Amino acid sequence: MKIAIACDHGGFPLKETVIDVVCAAGHDVFDLGTDSVESVDYPDFAEKLGRAIQSGEVERGVLMCGSGVGANIAANKMKGVYAAICHDTYSAHQGVEHDDMNVLCLGARIVGPEPVKEIVEAFLGARFVGNDAGEERHARRVNKVRILEG
Ligand code: RB5
Repeated sequence: MKIAIACDHGGFPLKETVIDVVCAAGHDVFDLGTDSVESVDYPDFAEKLGRAIQSGEVERGVLMCGSGVGANIAANKMKGVYAAICHDTYSAHQGVEHDDMNVLCLGARIVGPEPVKEIVEAFLGARFVGNDAGEERHARRVNKVRILEG
């Protein structure tokens, strides 16, 4: 898959770890910045990542800020972006499997590199099951979410 990575200065300390995990899992990284701990505004990087999803340039993204909260709120304002903060592996894979999550948000001030490696692996290894036999309820629910987008 093509995976966009973006962060603000608060998320920057996790960026290299995330890039390494995505590459090691055999995916292509689209690094959308930021590239240092110099202060920037998280909505600008959420927008870059969201635009990459919307255009189809990438299939999924990993977006980081200090807490994950601002990144998560900003990303979900964009049509077609389904983002969630997942600081555990269960949410990271189930969010894809049941909810078709396409953006994983992380807070670098909350979770460290070792759990993040496993969380990102869980996110990348998961696929949406809503179109599988017997799992149609998930597609029904996701379609209702899409209706909420307006
Ligand atoms: C930046 O200081 C911080 O507010 C930002 O990274 C993020 O945590 C916002 O939710």
